[in-house]
Amino acid sequence: MIALEGVSKRYGGQTVVDDVSLALGGEGVTALIGPNGAGKSTLFGLVGRLVRPDAGRVTVDGLDVATTPSQELARRVAVLRQDNHVAARLTVQDLVEFGRFPHSRGRLTVDDRDHVERAVAHLGLEGYRDRFLDELSGGQRQRASIAMVLAQDTRYVLLDEPLNNLDLRHMGETMRLVREMADVLGKRVVTVLHDVNSAAAYADRIVAMRDGRVVADAPARDVMRPEVLADVYDTTVDVREIDGRPVALYYG
Ligand SMILES: Nc1ncnc2c1ncn2[C@@H]1O[C@H](COP(=O)(O)OP(=O)(O)OP(=O)(O)O)[C@@H](O)[C@H]1O
Ligand SMILES: [Mg+2]
Repeated sequence: MIALEGVSKRYGGQTVVDDVSLALGGEGVTALIGPNGAGKSTLFGLVGRLVRPDAGRVTVDGLDVATTPSQELARRVAVLRQDNHVAARLTVQDLVEFGRFPHSRGRLTVDDRDHVERAVAHLGLEGYRDRFLDELSGGQRQRASIAMVLAQDTRYVLLDEPLNNLDLRHMGETMRLVREMADVLGKRVVTVLHDVNSAAAYADRIVAMRDGRVVADAPARDVMRPEVLADVYDTTVDVREIDGRPVALYYG
């Protein structure tokens, strides 16, 4: 499990993660939702050791993130970052191979190559492997980054807005892949989503943050209520039932 115990993070005078105690990485898919600036990416940064907490402790399978070597951590947790500023002069193949670095340290074995091939195929990137990242569309680049994370082959997968830049078809495909990572590959997936309908359709559990705190944490259906979403987002949200599923309407 990934455990946060009384974790706080401050920037200047602002507390952006505020005394959060939370267990993540149970079976299945967990969606992390909440308004811009709620602290979602910072929370992922704390788990991936990109951000140091001002208070509290983060552990992964009982290992303290503050003292565990990066390589060890990277074999357990893969993080797709929101601000994925990867070097433009890498090819798709290079990037996905980079996902194996915590295992291979640069020298790819047959097993490493196997993981790379499967990840490339999963994301439908076979035709793009020799393209440089700056020669791809935003959505293709996003899929290449997801392939890298998949190739890392960790038990825990944290995806920060994986649907960024994706078209309707690729949003659906990516969410089905997320489901498959959990159901077929047995991974524990935590994903930040702004589209609450994708969260409701594909996640088992929804954790909602607001102002650095967890304000809801329940099975997806229980979070998809007008009063809960109104509280999380501070706006009116209508929820309808379509084919037995809750669907939030936020336009009109
Ligand atoms: N390095 C930093 N220095 C100063 N403030 C920061 C830094 N990183 C994040 N913040 C602030 O912390 C707060 C939380 O940011 P964070 O990126 O975690 O939000 P988020 O929930 O991921 O939002 P979004 O949905 O827009 O991605 C914001 O107010 C942000 O401005
Ligand atoms: Mg963010």
